[in-house]
Amino acid sequence: MKAVTTLKELCAERAKLAEPLGLVPTMGYLHEGHLSLVRQAKAECPSIGVSIFVNPSQFGPDDDLESYPRDLDRDLSLLKDEGVDLVWMPTANEMYPSGFQTWVTIEGLTQPLEGLRRPGHFRGVATVVAKLFNAFQPSKAYFGQKDAQQAIVIQRMVRDLNFPLQIVVCPTVREPDGLAMSSRNAYLNAAERKAATVLYRALTAAIDAFVSGEQKAEALRDLMSDVLSFESLIRPEYVSVAGLDTLEELTGPIDRALLSMAVYVGETRLIDNMIVGEQGFETDGDTNS
Ligand code: PAF
Repeated sequence: MKAVTTLKELCAERAKLAEPLGLVPTMGYLHEGHLSLVRQAKAECPSIGVSIFVNPSQFGPDDDLESYPRDLDRDLSLLKDEGVDLVWMPTANEMYPSGFQTWVTIEGLTQPLEGLRRPGHFRGVATVVAKLFNAFQPSKAYFGQKDAQQAIVIQRMVRDLNFPLQIVVCPTVREPDGLAMSSRNAYLNAAERKAATVLYRALTAAIDAFVSGEQKAEALRDLMSDVLSFESLIRPEYVSVAGLDTLEELTGPIDRALLSMAVYVGETRLIDNMIVGEQGFETDGDTNS
C-alpha cells in the first residue's frame, strides 16, 4: 500500500494501478462503517483508493473541525490490512492552495435537512469530492447511507456534471444495540452512549408502524418525535419524513420516504436515517459510465 500526501505523488501512483479503481473518500478515524465501504469496493474493483482528509470547508464556524478525532497511524494500519492500494492524505494547503476560489454548489437538494442547519456544508463536501474524483479518476466511489443527504447530493453532482463514474451507496453499519457507527460516537460518555440508541429506536418504531399499515407522513414523524421525547439526555434538532427525490417534507399517505433525524446527545450532534417503502438505497445506475 502506498500512502502519499501531494497531488503529484498521487497521480504518479494512481497511474500504476489497474482499472477500474474504486474510491472510498473518508475523513479518517476509521470504523467498521468505513471498512465495509472498502470491502464492498474490494469485491467490485481490482484497485482501491482511499482518501483521508478532514475537510475544513465542510465545517461551519461552530462545528468540531479542531476536535474532530484523528488517528492516522491506526487508519493506515487498518487500510493496509484491508488490502487498499493507494491512500491520499493531503494537507489543507494541498487541497486548497493559495488563490483557490472555485466551488461546487448543488441547489435544491442541499436546502433542507442538514443543509438548512449547516450552511455551506454541502458546498464544502461537493467541492472536495469533485476534487477527489478528478485526482483519483475512479470508476466507482463508495459512500455510506448513514449520510443519506450527502449520498443523494453527490449522485446529483455526478449526473449534472457528467463525472464518468458510478456512486455506490452502502448500508449503514450499526453497533449491536443499533447505534449507527460514526467517528463522532467517540465524543459520547457512557450515559450519552446509552441514550444515543434512541435514534435507532425512533427510526425502527416508525418502520414498524409503516409495515403495520401507518402510512401517513405526519403520523410517522410524530411517532419518531414521541420516542425521542422519552430520552432526557437528548435534544432533537429535526425529525423528517422526506421524499427521496427532492428531500422535501412529505404529507399524507406515503409509499416511500427517507426517515431522518439530527439529535444532540449532550454536546454531540448525531444523525441517522432509514428508508421506508423499498429494499434499500437506490444505487446510481451507470448513467455516466
Ligand atoms: O462523509 C465524509 O466522511 C465526508 O463528508 C467526505 C465524503 C469524505 C468529504 O469530505
